[in-house]
Amino acid sequence: MILEIENITARQILDSRGNPTIEAEVELNNGTIAKASVPSGASTGTFEAVELRDKNNSEFLGKSVYKAVDNINNIIAQNLIGENPANQRDIDNTLIELDGSFNKSTLGANATLAVSLSCARAAAKAYEMPLYRYLGGINSCVLPTPMMNILNGGVHANNKLDFQEFMISPVGAPTFGDALRAGSEIFHTLKNILNKNGYSTTVGDEGGFAPDISNPEEAIEFIILAIESSGYNLNSIKICLDVAASELYEEGECQDGFCSLSKYDLKGLGKKFSSDEMIDYLEKLVKTYPIISIEDGLAEDDELGWKNLNERLGNTCQLVGDDLFVTNVERLRGGIKKKLANSILIKPNQIGTLSETLDTILMAQKNGFSTIISHRSGETEDTFIADLAVGVNAGLIKTGSLSRTDRICKYNRLLKIEEELADNAKYTGIRAFKGVKRLSDENDIPPCCG
Ligand code: PGA
Ligand code: ZN
Repeated sequence: MILEIENITARQILDSRGNPTIEAEVELNNGTIAKASVPSGASTGTFEAVELRDKNNSEFLGKSVYKAVDNINNIIAQNLIGENPANQRDIDNTLIELDGSFNKSTLGANATLAVSLSCARAAAKAYEMPLYRYLGGINSCVLPTPMMNILNGGVHANNKLDFQEFMISPVGAPTFGDALRAGSEIFHTLKNILNKNGYSTTVGDEGGFAPDISNPEEAIEFIILAIESSGYNLNSIKICLDVAASELYEEGECQDGFCSLSKYDLKGLGKKFSSDEMIDYLEKLVKTYPIISIEDGLAEDDELGWKNLNERLGNTCQLVGDDLFVTNVERLRGGIKKKLANSILIKPNQIGTLSETLDTILMAQKNGFSTIISHRSGETEDTFIADLAVGVNAGLIKTGSLSRTDRICKYNRLLKIEEELADNAKYTGIRAFKGVKRLSDENDIPPCCG
């Protein structure tokens, strides 16, 4: 039987922050029904594909997505009915053509992605294949090393921490399951430590703690204490940061021929840094602490800064472009050519279709960049990114802290995939990271399996 899409429908649902988002549902001629929903960011990059919102202040504070839902029900559906759901490229090209804009602003990247992902899931289901296997084929076997965001700041929390995410990565764990156990133990130990020190243990958008501290170094010290108090050492558990520096950036202004310099305004720390001073500060942190990855250490518009940062730290630390690349193959191509970074964050909703996401991943992998499949701060119960991470052997995943089901469901899905792959599952630990291999303190990290 040749598979055909019989119907596509969409509805508005709520994400983990209680804001509207889209769920699409695809029905095939053999009775298969599959759904996918899309996440939503808070510290969005300027160059991301457009998330279409109604901007009608009388509903959901302007955040409803009824127009994007209509676009699926009334425009996209009629153009894809009769298409084979396995023709992902054709489906995505149709979505791109129907939209017609350079940034999915006509139909909305939220509309296109919901359809794109639900078609893939429907095809996998119809072929009775696990989604990761359908996406990646017979060689999909790498369980991603998680980068777990256990302490939140920036726009994800209402404390004074300038940096958005303080993550732990269990790089020395033998399996994904062991990595998850380490993460959970350290998370709960951190809770006790923060409690004892009189700090709040309420959590931010991604399920990490958001204590009222203002100095990144203090946050890192608490995490180190939690790692060591849990019985782990700093060779097996490393620290990763997402500075989300575009949020801190103040571009210089020119008036009457005089131009002020662009600055990074770290209000919590009480400092304003030039690009070079910001690099000095990041270098100091990398030299002082077991930090192996820095995401968006500089702003999306500070290209020269990124080049300098990569020259200075690219051989000792993974430097991840999130707002810088926005999962966009052309932006990544430019970044590779200009040597701006050594790693890319992959967020399917930054670009709006599965095929374009896969193109960006492939380009990154071919050019020696590490790839981190990522959630958004506003998530749903959809676990697509877990399968995507294994499917493309991405090596790394960022899907939040060790609390809140919108984060945990991705980890739980990975546990099940690891169980299913059994002896064929590979957890590559530290080897998944770029730029850190020259560190000398890796000796007691156990070799990965396989
Ligand atoms: P966002 O944050 O989903 O709010 O954009 C995640 C990130 O910056 O990595
Ligand atoms: Zn980021």
